[in-house]
Amino acid sequence: AQTVTRDEHGVATVGGISVTRLAEEFGTPAYFLDEADFRARARAWRTAFGADADVYYAGKAFLSRAVVRWLHEEGLNVDVCSGGELATALSAGMPADRIAFHGNNKSVDEITRAVEAGVGHIVLDSFQEIARVAHIAQSLGKRQKVLIRITVGVEAHTHEFIATAHEDQKFGIPLAGGQAAEAVRRALQLDGLELVGLHSHIGSQIFDMSGFEVAAHRVVSLLKDVRDEHGVELPEIDLGGGLGIAYTSDDDPREPHEIAKALSEIVSRECEAAQLRTPRISVEPGRAIVGPTAFTLYEVGTIKPLDGLRTYVSVDGGMSDNIRTALYDAEYSVALVSRTSDAEPMLARVVGKHCESGDIVVKDAFLPADLAPGDLIAVPATGAYCRSMASNYNHVLRPPVVSVRDGEARVIIRRETEEDLLRLDVG
Ligand code: LLP
Repeated sequence: AQTVTRDEHGVATVGGISVTRLAEEFGTPAYFLDEADFRARARAWRTAFGADADVYYAGKAFLSRAVVRWLHEEGLNVDVCSGGELATALSAGMPADRIAFHGNNKSVDEITRAVEAGVGHIVLDSFQEIARVAHIAQSLGKRQKVLIRITVGVEAHTHEFIATAHEDQKFGIPLAGGQAAEAVRRALQLDGLELVGLHSHIGSQIFDMSGFEVAAHRVVSLLKDVRDEHGVELPEIDLGGGLGIAYTSDDDPREPHEIAKALSEIVSRECEAAQLRTPRISVEPGRAIVGPTAFTLYEVGTIKPLDGLRTYVSVDGGMSDNIRTALYDAEYSVALVSRTSDAEPMLARVVGKHCESGDIVVKDAFLPADLAPGDLIAVPATGAYCRSMASNYNHVLRPPVVSVRDGEARVIIRRETEEDLLRLDVG
């Protein structure tokens, strides 16, 4: 995570800059992202997987042009799941053949743009999409590389809304009932498609490797069935993203090299047993790369002690810049960063400024009892799925993302303004 040190006044400094200076210069709330940390994590994944594998950074976690350039320089590819993400990746100079396109309901327009741009592969998510992409590619006179997303039937141990490989949900084509095998059969018959492999993504914020092992096992069994039925050895498998990060000190994340080792061992073992050539592996980490690299800086506003319960600490943002607590019961930590305090800790709940009681940023936190309006507090590990899921609820303006490196801070996504809001309101 970011190296936060304290100066002689107890003010936290990040990348050589004090948080009070950051707040003065960029305002609050704001996300501060450590570029060196981001690059180091991206590189660790790239190195761990080596030349025989590909790492696609999952853009949904957080995407901006600066981030795409860093990924490009560090040798990673990008996974996009909408026309907007595709446009961002292309406009920052990511070569199209290093982009993978995902989604359960890609529009005809999005597919057309992806095929025209020449994306590396499209991950097909349904029978209708197999036909749709084949038709579009053929009408453009192209043969599009595709993977088929398989629902492997694993219960990933994570929040229900972010688990994606159990059968009763919207993603992928189930292995069950021979549906995935039928999808392969159809894709192999269509001229517009070049089927290069299979894809599985079991969920997100996962710590236990066993789900990935079961998924790899089932994907390889289907590779074998495909070989037996069609005499074709598909050359690639993508095992998705989903590796958990530490939001609080209770979480114990796996390192990229451990993951790479576990995945490649199981795939090689299974392929050897099935007498298959080992396919090229790809992975799609999002959170594990960007999550720990940023924190959100808030200014404390109203403080409301409720006798016998807890103290409600309101900040100048909330569920519009971090929906994860409200949506997934996510846990975060928080710290006073603009000074040190010797005061007793008090049980606090950090809440936002939105008009609903579920607008909670940190559910249970201890903050010093002398906390006062104007203090700055920081919530770490907000690099993933915070800015990318930010909203304008209550017409609150979305915060900027500022990258910090070697004592210099640079806005990579600017703060939204009221003019931005009003520009869209054309009534
Ligand atoms: N690949 C696919 C096909 C995905 O659907 C996802 C995430 C990823 C890769 C990257 O997963 P990661 O490595 O970041 O866990 N908004 C939720 C997470 C939703 C994840 C959606 N798909 C959250 O804030 O926890």
